[in-house]
Amino acid sequence: MSKDRVLVFDTTLRDGEQSPGCSMNLTEKLTIARQLERLGVDVIEAGFPIASEGDFESVQAIAQQVRGARICGLARTGEEDVARALEALDGAEMPRVHTFIATSDIHLEHKLRMTREQVLEEVDRAVRQARAHCDDVEFSAEDATRSDWDYLVQVFETAIRAGATTLNVPDTVGYTQPEEYATLIRHLREHVDGADRAVFSVHCHNDLGLAVANSLAAVLAGARQVECTLNGIGERAGNTSMEEVVMTIQTRPDVYSEVETGIVTTEIYPASRLLASTIGVPVQPNKAIVGENAFAHEAGIHQDGVLKAPITYEIMTPQSIGRSSNELVLGKHSGRHAFRERLAELGFELEGEAFQDAFRRFKDLADAKKTIYNEDLEAIASDAVLRSDERFQVEQVTVLSGTFAKPTATVELTVDGESRRATALGIGPVDAVFKAIADLTETKSELERFQVNAITGGMDALGEVSVTVSEDGRRVIGNGAHPDIIVASARAYVHAINKLEWHKRRHEVAEPRGI
Ligand code: KIV
Ligand code: ZN
Repeated sequence: MSKDRVLVFDTTLRDGEQSPGCSMNLTEKLTIARQLERLGVDVIEAGFPIASEGDFESVQAIAQQVRGARICGLARTGEEDVARALEALDGAEMPRVHTFIATSDIHLEHKLRMTREQVLEEVDRAVRQARAHCDDVEFSAEDATRSDWDYLVQVFETAIRAGATTLNVPDTVGYTQPEEYATLIRHLREHVDGADRAVFSVHCHNDLGLAVANSLAAVLAGARQVECTLNGIGERAGNTSMEEVVMTIQTRPDVYSEVETGIVTTEIYPASRLLASTIGVPVQPNKAIVGENAFAHEAGIHQDGVLKAPITYEIMTPQSIGRSSNELVLGKHSGRHAFRERLAELGFELEGEAFQDAFRRFKDLADAKKTIYNEDLEAIASDAVLRSDERFQVEQVTVLSGTFAKPTATVELTVDGESRRATALGIGPVDAVFKAIADLTETKSELERFQVNAITGGMDALGEVSVTVSEDGRRVIGNGAHPDIIVASARAYVHAINKLEWHKRRHEVAEPRGI
């Protein structure tokens, strides 16, 4: 029996990116988009073009450069919103406009201050406008799960008549329950006139920890598109986690007998790692599928069982998601070719100076450290490469500290391509380095959190520093890795300041939050 395809609609770069601490610049978004392409997702929601210049440019770049997946841009129902999305998508191989408006009485009364009739007119107008220029139009009824079901039927019928090809039923506030959501999907499929001409899609938030369960219940009820993010990142408690949905469908074909996804599951772990290292938001250790401990058997009785036969305690293999973590991958004799291939497997495709820089750093590390792990390579690549086009770059860091010396740091940065140096005193070496950097970058930001981790075990481990800084109510996370944690700290702090710079240059023209 041939199976239906459940389309995987990835919104890591839109709903995921708009959550606190997860923002990405253009280079970072393009890198993630290329990994999504390798992963085989069906749709990449690349951003919300009218929200800012930065969002527009990212959607445009992804539309022009990424092939093999549909590229989608989000728009409210306003004429200007839809026009901006269409403009950003120009150049895409397979463009999709995704337009939305809220349909619950709560949102109509308190947020939109519109009548039901007015909302229907908006739906009709926006979908027709999008459809006049693009064959693939998705319509979302925001807060669908708290909307009146009869009204929702009317809304979706309007969208279909206007030409929508996908109807999305978002659980915007993470309120619904699996059984209830499945019943809603069935109800819509049965009652919406023309339902067979559109794909029903689900988009769940995880406020009650049910996003994946709700999405899967909806698939069993006939939904054929799941909107999700890598590592489940997203507004508040996050969105549906892609890896959990995909691996559930794959691991339980007896339950999900009618469907399959097109995901290349061996790209799941590289994608998860790439995202975590790019945004600097680590995955919780016990996170299903991609967490550090997801395949670690600690209890003796489990270890014994797994050694005798993995099936005793393993329902899927780590290899099936592309996980061979902590495996020795390269050493100091490895050449450029092996290095490039390994990076590509981890989701990094580097060229020119960025590649040479990463290779130099790899050789330095291999000289200092016996074993080089995947995690070390990811840190080198994301640290040295994703940041190659940033305004501030760390060149040199020297500190004097200890029990007899007043901690002193001299830092050299490249600022807009020009080399600058500053020296500062501090209460410790990191404090001195940060003061020198603050002086050079003239940042007004405040340091909120500073955290050091060893990326891989051993005395020679690469140190990874994560800092959270804020300015004018915006909070960002910066990451840095280096065998010397003072240098890693400098890189992390400069990374965070660069992110704030990026936001300042984004010129927000509309507020995407609250979606
Ligand atoms: O959560 C939500 O309702 C959304 C829509 C824009 C699909 O993100
Ligand atoms: Zn959402």
